[in-house]
Amino acid sequence: MMLLRANAIHSGYRDMEVLRGISLTLESGEILGVLGRNGMGKTTLIRCLAGLLPTWRGDITLDQHDVTRLPPHERARRGVTTVIQGRGLFPRLTVRENLEMGRIAGGGRKRSRLDEVLKYFPRLGERLAQTAGTLSGGEQQMLAIGRALMTQPRLMLLDEPSDGIMPILVKQIAGILVEISRRENMAIVVVEQNVPMVFAMTDRCVIIEKGRIVTEGTREDVSRSEVMRKYLAI
Ligand SMILES: Nc1ncnc2c1ncn2[C@@H]1O[C@H](COP(=O)(O)OP(=O)(O)OP(=O)(O)O)[C@@H](O)[C@H]1O
Ligand SMILES: [Mg+2]
Repeated sequence: MMLLRANAIHSGYRDMEVLRGISLTLESGEILGVLGRNGMGKTTLIRCLAGLLPTWRGDITLDQHDVTRLPPHERARRGVTTVIQGRGLFPRLTVRENLEMGRIAGGGRKRSRLDEVLKYFPRLGERLAQTAGTLSGGEQQMLAIGRALMTQPRLMLLDEPSDGIMPILVKQIAGILVEISRRENMAIVVVEQNVPMVFAMTDRCVIIEKGRIVTEGTREDVSRSEVMRKYLAI
C-alpha cells in the first residue's frame, strides 16, 4: 500500500529555492535511500517531509491524505517520526528521560514501548541513568533512533545516521534498522552521504543534486550511473 508520496515539491529558505521539484513514493515497510553530496538539499527534503519547513509548491500525501500543510505534530500523530541531523537529544536529561520524551512527542501512547526499544538497542538499557550528553557518538545515534521508535512509527525520516560514527557501528545500526523495518512494517527514508550504509539498508535509491533527483533505481542501476561515478570520485 502506498504510504508516502511527494509530488514535485519545491521548498527553500527565504528567497533561495533548494528543492526544485522532488517526487518520490514509498510503500509501507519500504526503505528508500537518498544520496547526495553536501549542500544538495537532503536535510531540506527531510524537513519538508516532516513538516518542519513549508512546502512552496507541490504536495505531500500520507495514506492518500494531503498533509502538505499539516504541522509536524499532526504528521507525527499520523505515524511520521524524524531523526534530525545532529540528533536533537536533550544532553542533560538521562537516556530514560530522552526515550520518554519520544513517547510524549508522539502523543503519549499509554503503553510504553521502552522494553521493545531496549531489545533493539541493549546498550541503551545498560545506560538508562546516564545523561545523553555523556554518551559516545554512536550511542547518541542509537538513542536518537530509539527515541523516534517510542511512538511505533510507520514512517521514519532519518537524516545522516552515519554522521560521526565508526564504520563497524554504522553497519550494526544499518542492520538494526532493517530488522525493525521488517518486523514492524516501518518505512524509512534514509538520507546519507555514506553509500555503503544506504546499500546495506536498501535496494532502492535516488541521488539528488541541487534539489533535483538526477538518478533513481535499484542499487545496481544507481551504481552504474554516471552520476554515481562522479559522486564517488569526489
Ligand atoms: N536554515 C537555512 N537558512 C538558509 N539556507 C539554508 C538553511 N539550511 C540550509 N540552507 C542551504 O540550503 C542548501 C541545502 O542545504 P541542506 O542542509 O538541505 O543540504 P544537505 O544535502 O543536507 O547537506 P549536508 O550533506 O551537508 O548535510 C545549502 O545551500 C544550505 O546552505
Ligand atoms: Mg544535511
